[in-house]
Amino acid sequence: MKVGFLGLGKLGLPVSLAVESKGHEVFGYDISQQTIDDIKNKKIRYREEWVDTYLPKTKLKILSIDELVKSSEIIFVPIQTPHDPLYEGITKIPKKRIDFDYSFLKSGLKDLSAAIEKNKEDKVVIIISTVLPGTIRNEIKPLLGSHTKLCYNPFFIAMGSTIRDFLYPEFILFGVDNEKASEKAQNFYKTICDSPFYKTTIENAELIKVSYNTMISTKISFVNTIMEACHHLPNTNVDDVTNALKMANRRLISDAYMSGGMGDGGGCHPRDNIALSHLSQKLGLSYDWFEGIMMQREKQSEWLADLVIKNSENRQINILGKTFKPETNLMLGSPSLLLENILKEKGYKVYSWDPFVDEDFSEISKKFNWYNNQKKHTFFIGTKHADFVNFKFPKDSIIIDPFRFIYNVKDCKIIRIGDSINKN
Ligand SMILES: NC(=O)c1ccc[n+]([C@@H]2O[C@H](COP(=O)([O-])OP(=O)(O)OC[C@H]3O[C@@H](n4cnc5c(N)ncnc54)[C@H](O)[C@@H]3O)[C@@H](O)[C@H]2O)c1
Repeated sequence: MKVGFLGLGKLGLPVSLAVESKGHEVFGYDISQQTIDDIKNKKIRYREEWVDTYLPKTKLKILSIDELVKSSEIIFVPIQTPHDPLYEGITKIPKKRIDFDYSFLKSGLKDLSAAIEKNKEDKVVIIISTVLPGTIRNEIKPLLGSHTKLCYNPFFIAMGSTIRDFLYPEFILFGVDNEKASEKAQNFYKTICDSPFYKTTIENAELIKVSYNTMISTKISFVNTIMEACHHLPNTNVDDVTNALKMANRRLISDAYMSGGMGDGGGCHPRDNIALSHLSQKLGLSYDWFEGIMMQREKQSEWLADLVIKNSENRQINILGKTFKPETNLMLGSPSLLLENILKEKGYKVYSWDPFVDEDFSEISKKFNWYNNQKKHTFFIGTKHADFVNFKFPKDSIIIDPFRFIYNVKDCKIIRIGDSINKN
């Protein structure tokens, strides 16, 4: 295939070399003369493994933007989206937070789109640059003409091993705006590797990219907290601790606990975190990470309580499920009970029921007036008990579901938390 690159920087050049290594013809355009000269001189100013092998023998053709459009079947766009140096992480974080700078990306895509319109042919344009969710639709798409068929394909590569990471990715992430463009891209990727092709909305792809990076930061900040604790605690060694944690490949280093829902619960986790927050304060750790995670849990429960209140005007508030674990009667540290307590604290009457803890459905439904037509109800699903899928929700109920497992309930409105795509 003939593959173009608009931008031949630290990402664009190594990827173009990787694509060429799979037998494709590659073309490039960059506004920086220095970058072009460096490529022509077969020299780069950053360290990238494998570039030394590929660059000397590349047939990469540097073209004008019009020629690039004419020559390429698909065009990748890896233009920089920098942050002000104050937001790079080498100084303390400024109080005011700002977005990336999209001016380079916007200007490049505007020029590319103009060249595509001039060429009067549909072209597949694949943006790689890192952006915050909503950017492509709100800031980029309005700049593009009708011949630009867009996809968003952020890479999960690490600087220094770009070529290897591109050729052997964990998965290929594709935000799709145009189905035909995505099909063409998928066929192209079949020539690169056999990693799974994860197709989703543009906005999901934007969020997956930055969440991936943030999850790495979360792991690092966690182990560094343990390291600091070990520095203070006698007879501890951070490597001994993390080496043990690394063996926990069923729960910790796995896909477990990776679905959005209620906060962490149980007889151990919340209380362990609270005790560790105490230890953190006692040792004088530089940052109380454990308080951070417990406050996230508490604030999320307050947010859920506000969502319930907002959706229960002239309605009875019901919580279905009291246990922290589905299909059990275990209620210790239950986030559902935390939600109930917050609602009560705010002065609301709450009717909560758990099939594994309380009286039978027939008793409770009478007691709670669920089928008394005078009353309207809001139901919050506090525990992911499978039984609730077939629960007979009264007509006109509002159902708030943080697990997104209740579907198609007749004459009811379902609020699926964390899902702005699928509606009842
Ligand atoms: N470098 C990485 O390993 C990496 C990894 C994942 C994601 N990303 C993302 O990819 C994007 C690019 O990163 P990078 O490190 O390659 O940046 P970079 O600054 O090294 O390269 C960007 C290139 O685009 C060129 N350019 C700018 N405007 C242009 C225009 N109008 N027309 C043609 N070329 C233009 C620049 O001259 C430069 O050579 C960023 O959004 C970055 O966050 C980078």
